[in-house]
Amino acid sequence: MRLDKYLSNYSGLSRKEAKQAIKQGDVLVDRIPATGPQQVIHEQQDIRLAGLRIAPRGPRYFMLNKPQGCVCANSDGQHATVIGLFCEEEDYTDLHVAGRLDLDTTGLVLVTDDGQWSHRITSPKHKMPKRYQVTLQDPIANDAADRFAEGILLRNEHKRTRPAELLVLDPHHVELTIYEGKYHQVKRMFAALGNHVLELHRASIGPISLDPELEPGAYRPLYQEEIERLS
Ligand code: URA
Repeated sequence: MRLDKYLSNYSGLSRKEAKQAIKQGDVLVDRIPATGPQQVIHEQQDIRLAGLRIAPRGPRYFMLNKPQGCVCANSDGQHATVIGLFCEEEDYTDLHVAGRLDLDTTGLVLVTDDGQWSHRITSPKHKMPKRYQVTLQDPIANDAADRFAEGILLRNEHKRTRPAELLVLDPHHVELTIYEGKYHQVKRMFAALGNHVLELHRASIGPISLDPELEPGAYRPLYQEEIERLS
């Protein structure tokens, strides 16, 4: 990696400030003044800025309570983005969402810069359970749990959904756990039963539940134990 990029990735300096610091002789590579911003360096080298060691930061993992009207993307011309909520974090542009929600869906979103970790969460192969709280327009049909357990044939699909678990709280409020993540899956599953989802909230992904302390739009780093449980 180029030295100026390394410094801007790990020291908090902008690329321009990094170049300036190198020019001023404030940067040492293995105790020798850096030759220029384009100097190629390796992470195991000793890089110092004004005497302080600048080392790569480890991967980051967060949970966020997604509010309505916020899109699960890094940038969007029209709506606020989930990643925009992280603007106080250093290098927040490296972050991405592990498993998107629709614009109007609320609840648990995992955000990381560790691509392998997020792949384990989103890859269909891993069958990661996702639990949703659903508010329905019409009362839930009596045979809904059986039909979801058998798998539903969604519009424009050739294969049934994986067996899903339904818990009826009252006729208009249910919890649905699915083991895959097709486009608009929960809404389409209820549409296949002739019902309509009015509100959708993700309560958990695998062993991780949304922290009830998090207000809509708030986030916190995952605890080490939570990261490991999903690894
Ligand atoms: N299923 C949906 O229909 N929408 C979501 O946002 C998530 C799952």
